Amino acid sequence: MKSPINQQRRQWLKYAAITAVGAATYPTWAQATGKFKAVNQPSANFIPDVEIELTQEVAHVQLLDGQKTRVWKVLGKVLKGPTEAVQNSTDTYLAPTLRLRKGQKVRIFLNNNLPAHSILHWHGLHVPAIMDGNPMFAIGTGETYIYEFELLNRAGMYWYHAHTHNLTAKQVYSGLAGLFIVQDDAEEALDLPVGEFEVPLVIQDRSFDKENQLEYSDHMMQRMQGFLGERILVNGQPDFVLPVSGQAYRLRLLNGSNSRIYKLGWSDGAKLSVIGVDGGLLEKPQVYPYVMLAPGERVELWVDFGSREVGTEVTLKSLPFESSMHGGMGMMGGGGMMGGGRRGMMGGGMMGMMSGSSLPLGGEYNLFSVKVVKAGKGKSKLPEKLTPLSKLKINDAANADKPRSIRLSMRHMSAFLNGRSYKMNDVKADEIIPVNTLQVIEFDNGFGGMNGMAMPHPMHLHGEQFQIIKRQVNANSSDTYASVSAGLVRGGWKDTVLVMPGEKVTVLKPFNDYTGLFMYHCHNLEHEDLGMMRDLLIK
Ligand code: C2O
Ligand code: CU
Ligand code: CU
Repeated sequence: MKSPINQQRRQWLKYAAITAVGAATYPTWAQATGKFKAVNQPSANFIPDVEIELTQEVAHVQLLDGQKTRVWKVLGKVLKGPTEAVQNSTDTYLAPTLRLRKGQKVRIFLNNNLPAHSILHWHGLHVPAIMDGNPMFAIGTGETYIYEFELLNRAGMYWYHAHTHNLTAKQVYSGLAGLFIVQDDAEEALDLPVGEFEVPLVIQDRSFDKENQLEYSDHMMQRMQGFLGERILVNGQPDFVLPVSGQAYRLRLLNGSNSRIYKLGWSDGAKLSVIGVDGGLLEKPQVYPYVMLAPGERVELWVDFGSREVGTEVTLKSLPFESSMHGGMGMMGGGGMMGGGRRGMMGGGMMGMMSGSSLPLGGEYNLFSVKVVKAGKGKSKLPEKLTPLSKLKINDAANADKPRSIRLSMRHMSAFLNGRSYKMNDVKADEIIPVNTLQVIEFDNGFGGMNGMAMPHPMHLHGEQFQIIKRQVNANSSDTYASVSAGLVRGGWKDTVLVMPGEKVTVLKPFNDYTGLFMYHCHNLEHEDLGMMRDLLIK
């Protein structure tokens, strides 16, 4: 821990603390008392099956030994419907896990008792524009936003988080994020592990100061790279150990980190059986040597501990990978300070050093371990088929021969989509999409030549899930790419896709049912707050 990197980091934090931005991260504030005032009205003709109240407030939780940690916590309560619909977390910042069923009509009252404006967004859910948590709907202290929507999504592990203008990264980091699990009949008809054998796991990174308080630095380097914490937390807990029985499990993983990308792999080299992604189950399981999981993405693993002895342990790690290009265009662009650097210097190690984290991006470290504590049902067989999935066809797209291209770029403390940064209510002609159409969209991360910094960008589209139909990478980036490509999961419904430097990813996305504004952005939350976000107008 006494490395020069760390000393440098301390200096940055000190610097950040004396600037207004750093000092304003965790202000003390008298909480609003009693009543909340709704900014909108429940509709009379919407009869909810489930009604939930979520209250955001400042809390102090016993997260580490010693002093409690001040966090921003969401507390949930079921007002109508099954009590299992809301599961609050204990001793941590994590927002409650919501568990609902496809077809249910849900009404959610969001009460804001925080010292800041805020709004929650339902990541991956297909809901009307005014229920989607666009930053323009942020509510103030003492206010309530009423959400009403029908759950149209298929079974899957979705999530929800703050989406406040310029503050998404800090608010999510402080605790405003939780799981939103949707169940349906098709999934239940399968013989997948359920109950205690189905385990949702939220992977995040955080830094703490000596008083056990969350540390967040938005010094320039942290904003350009994305914030990297010094410790890995799983389900909001450090040093996480999952006790299991000797049998098959369904591990459902969300990368809920601000910017950290994981290359998931088992410590004993076992392969990973992937059964699901962002929008639920695949058609059939796929086996990977490792799996890349970028911020916002989910991956579901079927893991059989049936042949492991009681008392044994295995660790899920993040394996080393390269996160920026070798040579040519590096951190500062061609010919810059670090352009044309030597191999090794230009890889994950360098990126990590630049961000000052003791857990560099692309380094090797442990995420959590699994300990077999008792015998179970023993070995079982991985199901051959999961749920059927209709493949979207490019010929059905309204723009089959004219893909909508979204160019990703960063320079001079700004981040762009097609050369534009985020502005509220600033839809341009190429951002208007006719409702009830299927569209081909290309995310271009310097495929034809890098323009500015070479960085991976996990791109996310609000609204309906999409399918990835093509990945292309240019010759300059093929070395970097080789360290991640075997872990990019193919198939399934997605709402977030990792676009590596030099890569162009083509997706097919339906824009059905709802008109209005829907965001698209990089899910590196620091990039998002730097402006790498825009609205699409569906009409
Ligand atoms: Cu996960 Cu626009 O968000
Ligand atoms: Cu989203
Ligand atoms: Cu990005």
